[in-house]
Amino acid sequence: MTAFPDVPPGVDPTRPSPVRVHDYFLGGTHNYPVDREAAERLKATVPDIVDAMLANRGFHGRAARWIARQGVRQFIDIGAGLPTRNNTHEAVRRVLPEARVVYVDHDPMVAAYSGPLLAADGTTTLVTADWRDPGAVLGDPGLRRLIDLADGLELVPPYTGADGVMTYAGLWGAEDIEAADTEGSRGIYCGVARRP
Ligand SMILES: C[S@@+](CC[C@H](N)C(=O)[O-])C[C@H]1O[C@@H](n2cnc3c(N)ncnc32)[C@H](O)[C@@H]1O
Repeated sequence: MTAFPDVPPGVDPTRPSPVRVHDYFLGGTHNYPVDREAAERLKATVPDIVDAMLANRGFHGRAARWIARQGVRQFIDIGAGLPTRNNTHEAVRRVLPEARVVYVDHDPMVAAYSGPLLAADGTTTLVTADWRDPGAVLGDPGLRRLIDLADGLELVPPYTGADGVMTYAGLWGAEDIEAADTEGSRGIYCGVARRP
């Protein structure tokens, strides 16, 4: 018997993974000692990191609800992470109960824990793919079942929209931070667009 009897296929419990470290910071249980150690080392260097992660989740939920209030019914959440509180489908359904949400993540831990949970709900799904391969993301049969894409639409990371696309805010950095923000108070931006 190994020290990690329940490790899902493809998951290496001996090396920290960003998604499991993130899960630990948010109070989740889908992480291993190596992730917790890495997280604590990170926290020693960046003491505000947990506040920042929680603020990011709050922003995520508010942004999702705002988009839903504009009438957007289809969401692709790219870089979804592990299930947590107020996941995108839960946030948007407070506004639009019929909203459809497709999560995209390449991490096998997400596939193990988020996939079955979402599969039970006919209006959400998980696509296990790398966002650097837009063909794999947009060509996924599960995504196609839920999301109505116009012919010729391209997904160009970090963002090009279907009806509504939610992307990992951490991808949105200013191209020229000094020009964008001389106080250095904003390092991350987020953009949302809607196909006309
Ligand atoms: C820090 S988590 C963000 C989770 C959630 N979106 C949030 O904001 O709270 C970033 C996620 O992006 C995923 N990710 C990183 N690179 C990726 C890639 N190339 N393709 C798909 N997912 C990726 C990671 O597996 C991780 O789950």
